[in-house]
Amino acid sequence: MTLKKEDFPFSVQFDFERGEFSPKEKTATRRISDLGMIFHDKVAVELLIHQGDPLVYEIFYYGFKTSLSDMALGTTRIQPGKTGDEYYMTKGHFHEALDQPEIYFCIKGEGYLLMETLDGEFQAVKWKPGTITHIPPMWAHRVVNTSSSPLVFVASYHLAAGHSYEPIEEKGFLKRVIERNGKPQLVQNNQRF
Ligand code: F6R
Ligand code: ZN
Repeated sequence: MTLKKEDFPFSVQFDFERGEFSPKEKTATRRISDLGMIFHDKVAVELLIHQGDPLVYEIFYYGFKTSLSDMALGTTRIQPGKTGDEYYMTKGHFHEALDQPEIYFCIKGEGYLLMETLDGEFQAVKWKPGTITHIPPMWAHRVVNTSSSPLVFVASYHLAAGHSYEPIEEKGFLKRVIERNGKPQLVQNNQRF
């Protein structure tokens, strides 16, 4: 086989302090106005948008695409903060392809990785730097930052996995992570019951 330019090994450099790597192909930003539907306190959402629509998270992306493969790298940096009493978090999604897993690697910050299946299995994994979680196929995944500094994690997945956001956008996960008496607490998501 004749190798094309993209078939040669390629490296990016990760900056542990900033939680970014370079070069990257794309950066995506998610503000409160992009995520309003995922937080339960809609009054707090409107207030935050009115106060300047703060940044919640950024995704840095590189697709290591070759003639034969499609392994992607995504780094997510979630800012510290809350909407009302609910901690900042990613939108969360299922993979479209039913046989596609993912690996998440927590680099900085603390929080939870929430995972669940359509059959109602649910897991909340407490996350700290160094925790690496394998997310099996058909488990939706969302990360919540409960620390007072940015939470950074690296994700490795296949582009063929695709993303399905609708089921999570509408109803959320079975549990929410909120602050009670200054501490994170997992509570039942009333929209699901
Ligand atoms: C890719 C993946 C991550 C997320 C990223 C943002 O399959 O799981 O790269 O896409 O952490 O989260 P979402 O996509 O839920 O907004
Ligand atoms: Zn994913």
